[in-house]
Amino acid sequence: MTDHSSGIDGIDTDCITLTRFVLEGQKSHPGATGDLTMLLNSLMCAIKAVSAAVRRAGIAQLYGMAGSINIQGETVQKLDVLANQLFINQMSSSFNVGIMISEENEQVIIVEPKKRGKYIVAFDPLDGSSNIDCLVSIGSIFGIWKVDDDRIPTVKDALQPGRQMVAAGYALYGSGVMVVISTGDAPSGFTLDPNIGEFVLTHKDMQIKPRGSIYSINEAYTKDWEPGVLKYVEKCKFPPEGKSPYNARYIGSMVADVHRTLIFGGIFMYPASKKSPKGKLRLLYECCPMAYIMEKAGGKATDGKQRILDIVPEQLHERSACFLGSKEDVDDLIACLN
Ligand code: AHM
Ligand code: MG
Repeated sequence: MTDHSSGIDGIDTDCITLTRFVLEGQKSHPGATGDLTMLLNSLMCAIKAVSAAVRRAGIAQLYGMAGSINIQGETVQKLDVLANQLFINQMSSSFNVGIMISEENEQVIIVEPKKRGKYIVAFDPLDGSSNIDCLVSIGSIFGIWKVDDDRIPTVKDALQPGRQMVAAGYALYGSGVMVVISTGDAPSGFTLDPNIGEFVLTHKDMQIKPRGSIYSINEAYTKDWEPGVLKYVEKCKFPPEGKSPYNARYIGSMVADVHRTLIFGGIFMYPASKKSPKGKLRLLYECCPMAYIMEKAGGKATDGKQRILDIVPEQLHERSACFLGSKEDVDDLIACLN
């Protein structure tokens, strides 16, 4: 009899693709409808298309500015526009999304009635725009909510706290392409296998170290930090006698900085400052999804006063200070802030 179960010559004939992983998760939840599976399939299609565009950007002349300014007052890059269209179109055509919140759109995006579904998706289609033109890692970030009674959501349902998310994650377009996602359990990482065009499970049940040895913050803003942040960073640099200082790493792409924090441990910080009293990062589609992933991996995420996932948003593009990573490192920071 032929053995169908194993791999041959390093090719896994039974690899777990993201679609299979989500499908198997759905089958193990009695009563699950498969709607989230469909939605995630469409999302993965958008991510693959963004990844392909990022890879071809130089050749397809996708670098540079699109000539407009977005709601945050930032210059919009051509790849930003493309990624946003891909996310919106793929999400709408999953027939499972009712409303969307995008970093690039001032208002909530309402899906046309015949395609509407029960989920709310918030996303930053291409984060780290300032890194696009110099080929440094960039990413996409997403958070998914629904309303209690599974009805079709309205604009009023857009402002929910992160703790009510049903799934969240990110895609990193780095030296490889990886999606990290949690649908309520420990996050799993899937690496894009370009040979088959599928995300394949490579990092199961990811857990962050309780303590790391890397701090990540834009030190150029030191003069505007609150004293607690300064105190913490000084502690990282000048440890007690006999201990080594922490390493500093800052890419300036949230997805890349958070992914490194998840893999190696440590802390990522984007504090509030005198200039930006609520920090820079956006709550719904940057801070919340990353906080969800960190907590599900055993880490911690705070705005300095409360758990990020407990913040009740008041505005679509609300900003929040963001500190996340290894539990003990975040606890040390909180002690300095207090
Ligand atoms: P963007 O959404 O306009 O790309 O900005 C968000 C990015 C994050 O990826 C990153 O953490 C942060 O901005 C870096 O900001 P700064 O250059 O102020 O350090
Ligand atoms: Mg962003």
